[in-house]
Formats: sequence, structure tokens, C-alpha cells
Amino acid sequence: MAVKERIGKIIRITGPVIEAEGLSGVQMYEVCRVGEEELIGEVNRVEGSNATIQVYEETTGLKPGEKVIATGASLSVELGPGLIGQIFDGIQRPLEILKEQTGDFIRRGVIARALPRNVKWKFIPIVEKDATVNQGDIIGTVPETTTVTTKIMIPIGINGKITSIVPEGEYTIEENIATIKTPREERKITMMTTWPVRQGRPYLRKLGSTTPLITGQRIIDTFFPTAKGGTASIPGGFGTGKTVMLHQLAKWADSQIVVYCGCGERGNEMTEVLEDFPKLEDPRTGEPLMKRTILIANTSNMPVAAREASIYTAITLGEYFRDQGYDIALMADSTSRWAEALREISGRLEEMPGEEGYPAYLASRLAEFYERAGRVEALGSTETNQRIGSVTICGAVSPPGGDFSEPVTTNTLRVVKVFWGLDKDLASRRHFPSIHWLNSYSLYVENLEQWFAEHVSKEFLDLRGEAMYLLQREDELREIVQLVGPDALPESERVILEAARMIREDYLMQSALHPVDTYCSPEKAYKMLKTVLKFYNKMKGAVEGGVPITSIQHLDVLNDISRLKIVPPDEVDKRIDEVDKKIDKEFASLTVESLA
Ligand SMILES: Nc1ncnc2c1ncn2[C@@H]1O[C@H](COP(=O)(O)OP(=O)(O)OP(=O)(O)O)[C@@H](O)[C@H]1O
Ligand SMILES: [Mg+2]
Repeated sequence: MAVKERIGKIIRITGPVIEAEGLSGVQMYEVCRVGEEELIGEVNRVEGSNATIQVYEETTGLKPGEKVIATGASLSVELGPGLIGQIFDGIQRPLEILKEQTGDFIRRGVIARALPRNVKWKFIPIVEKDATVNQGDIIGTVPETTTVTTKIMIPIGINGKITSIVPEGEYTIEENIATIKTPREERKITMMTTWPVRQGRPYLRKLGSTTPLITGQRIIDTFFPTAKGGTASIPGGFGTGKTVMLHQLAKWADSQIVVYCGCGERGNEMTEVLEDFPKLEDPRTGEPLMKRTILIANTSNMPVAAREASIYTAITLGEYFRDQGYDIALMADSTSRWAEALREISGRLEEMPGEEGYPAYLASRLAEFYERAGRVEALGSTETNQRIGSVTICGAVSPPGGDFSEPVTTNTLRVVKVFWGLDKDLASRRHFPSIHWLNSYSLYVENLEQWFAEHVSKEFLDLRGEAMYLLQREDELREIVQLVGPDALPESERVILEAARMIREDYLMQSALHPVDTYCSPEKAYKMLKTVLKFYNKMKGAVEGGVPITSIQHLDVLNDISRLKIVPPDEVDKRIDEVDKKIDKEFASLTVESLA
């Protein structure tokens, strides 16, 4: 628990890292206020009463001899009503308030509280006086935005009996809303709590990954699905479509809340997020997506240490809503920028550099982050407060030169269960999403098999297998085609090439920009794939019966199949039915005799 403040002094400054002496009893990850301006920092090495501190703000102008206050607290975030819709920096300072207080350049040492203190929220109690409550139990709700209701939980570590609770009404987050008599004391509860970011929030138990996170992106949902509570990584070189994909997931994934952590490095990369994201519309409600989003933004003018902390801030916010029983989609774009921050700080600490200068603990830090994803049964009394929530993490990786063998990509792939590998050639041919079907994978397919059988179709995974087999065969044939051209292949193999082309172009390609194609339900995806494969089987049969493939390639129904992706959801069934019949009809007219 918190120790009281101690004051030491700066003895050395190396960029964002400073050393201080005279801080007896100082602990790892303790928050310090550094220098006369009281810049925010965090301890990351302790030797006796000396501490090394990473400072979250620009350290220019700091001098040895200036004071350092060790606060006794760990780097924590504020949790409560007022999180949704906000844009924070890496240590949860609201950017809007920072800007108002200091102008466009964030002044140093500014304490900007994460949650607004003066807003009154409508609190609706759901328990009564004398009720017995346990940690995690919900005692009331706050309709926070039109899309999100925040649930007020008994803070971790408190169990007892409610001795008073306020009636429904408007309260600030600092007002006392309930009193609980615990075996030791009487505790006043407010709507706000805090939690140290580097520590995962506790839960009752972790559950299996048996439900997919439906994203509406065909290649993801059907080929490489991720689970609610799962981990996915999306590595790709410059401009291959990482950000577009993460925006698509934020918009369409069937999660109630989005936590988007943007780690920009190039000057305008983050401004893009700050400008674009608030404009995104929530397709389900027509309201701004921000009404169920928390944005964490690291602009390039922010110090690296804040960027290093940002992913922990993000995941802690995600866990808070998970504990309320929500499904959270957490996007990190891009984790390479986070890793670079880690590398820079490690360099300043003069630690032994590992592969490509990254510290040896890069792998364990990545693992710790991704391990905080999961689908869990939340803390709370089992009879009255059973809730299941999840945090799904999707992290973009931007390997320099698109080389997937570099340390951030390889170490990420060791811990995540889904790999959506973006391919530069596909992107340059404008095949989007540029996720490559041959090197990507999902380790959840088996776990999700039952869900797909129950909710989509029993045949679904067989169709997926058949489609993937055809794409694999195409790849094997490609070399020959490159040498001698497709005409030299036997007709039976040209059938495979044609089917694979249809799977790629008519099924896997999906435009994020087209109003209909931008989202495809798993049911529609299934029907589309079934149609393509029906065509393939008909084609195979016809060719075996002596029909030349060139006459099949002229069939009119091919146009209809290629246009299925833009058929609106309410017309899909009718259209698929028509195409189905047309396939039968056109193949029937293609007998060898009729061609003779
Ligand atoms: N699914 C998609 N549908 C249509 N166009 C896409 C899609 N994905 C990517 N694009 C196109 O590719 C461009 C680059 O995509 P994006 O900005 O997402 O790449 P990135 O990998 O995030 O790049 P960077 O390395 O610069 O961060 C987009 O502006 C868009 O034109
Ligand atoms: Mg990007």
C-alpha cells in the first residue's frame, strides 16, 4: 500500500531517464514528481535509496540538484463514469483539457485529471440498504452515453454490508454514493476507483475461447477467425492496410466497447487518428463511434516514456469494462512504436542490448501485454452477479521494410494465436484486405468449430477447407504457369486456377470503402463461398465431360457471382437463389454436343 511522500534530488539526467538519490524505501514502478516543475515519472530501477526514473514529459531544462518527490503510489488510472468518448495521452491525461490549459504545446508538469470532477452523472442504485455485497458486485448503473451504460462495482478488496446507499439522482464521481461495513471498518464508496496499470485486474476465472469475435471481414471471419478474448497480430509493411483494418475492426466487430491505442511516430500519423477517428460512424447506431470508444493517443511530440506506458493504460481501461460484463475490442496501432519506446528507454538505462538493440525483456513484456487479453467470469457474488466479459487484443506491427523476421514481429507471433500477415504485393495490386491466405493462421479454428456449426452451418468448415486447398494448389501451380503460361496446363488444373481466382477476387477481396461490401455477415459469407464452390464443382464436372474451359470462362453467371459481395443483406437470399439456378441452367446448356 501507499507509503508517504519522500523527497530526494536529481543526480543525473539522460534524455527521458533521470537518476535520483535520497529516496529511501522507494519502490519499482512508484510514481515520482521530478524537478521544480514536478514532471510525472515512474521508477524503473532501484539501488538502495537511489532510483532511476523514466519521465513521461520532456526533460529539457531539468538540472541536477532539483528535487524529486516519490509519491508512494504506482502509475494508476482512474476508472469510473466519464471514460467513454475521451481522448487520453499514454498516462491518461485528457488531451482536450491539456490543450485548453496549455495551448497546443502541452506544458510540463500539468496535472490533468482523467475523469471530470464537476460532471453530475445519473446514478441508478440496484441494491438496497442492508444487502450483503462482495468485491465486483454491481451496486448501480450510470447511463453514460447513448450506447454505453457504466456499471458501478464494489471496489476490489471490499466485502461487507451496505449501511447506506443514495437514492437515484445526479452525483459527481467524488460524492459518496454508498457506505459499506466491512469486518474491519466502514468504507465510503464513490463512483470512481483507481487501478495500477501494470497489474492485471483480478477475475473469478478465465474461460475458453469458444465464441468468435465477428468482424464482418470475410477473410478474417471465415479463414482466420479470432475469438472473444483472443489475441491477434496484424504485421505489415508501410501502407499495406494495417490502420484501415483496425478501423474496420473497431467499427464492425461485435464488441460493445472499443479501446484504440494509437502510437504514432511520424509527425502526422497520429494527427490522422485524432482527426479520422472522431469522424467514424457507429454503423449499428448511426451515432459517432466515439460514443463507445476510448482513444489513447501518443503524438510524436510526446515523450517516449508515455508511449511505453500507453498500452498498459489501454488494457487496464479495457479490463475495467470487461469486469462490467462487456466485450471489449482493443486495438494497438502500432506495437512497433511501443517497442521502439521500450528500446530507447532501455538504451538510456544502459542495459545490455539484445537483438537489434531491443532489450532482452522485449519478449516477456509483449507476452505480459497479450496475456491480459481473455474472456473471463468477472468478480462478484456468484448467485447474483454472474457476468462474462472479454478483452480481445488486435495489435498491428510495422516491421521495417516489411521483414517479418525482425524481433518485434517474431516475439509477437510467439504469443498471439492469430496471425493476419499483410502482403506488400497484394497491397500493390490493390488486393485488399492484403492478408495473405498462405502464411496467415488462426489457432482458434478448432475451438470455434462448434459455434460455426451451430450459428452458420455444419458445412462451413468443410467449405473453408476446400477453398484453402484450392488456393494452396494454385500456389503450387503458379511456378509452372510463370514458366510456360496457363495454356500449357491440362484442363483439370486450369479449373483449379479459375476456381482459385474466383475465391481471391469474388470472395476474399473486400472493399472497406464500399457501403455494402464493408461488412459481410458470416451467413452471407457462407452463402457466397458455397456459390463459388458450387461453380467450381460444376466446372470440374463439365471439363471432365469434355467441355473446354474457355467456354466456361465466358458464362454470364460469372458476372453475377462477382457481384454478390455488393448485394445488400436483405436481398442476399433471393439473389443467391437466382444465381444458383442460373449456374445450373448455364452449365446444362454447355454440353459437349451443344458446343459441337
Ligand atoms: N480493406 C481495404 N479496402 C480498401 N482500401 C484499402 C483497404 N486496406 C487498405 N486500403 C488502402 O491502402 C491504403 C493504406 O492503408 P493503411 O493506411 O491502413 O496502411 P498502413 O499499413 O496502416 O500504413 P502505415 O505503415 O503508413 O501505417 C489506404 O489509404 C487505402 O487506400
Ligand atoms: Mg497505419
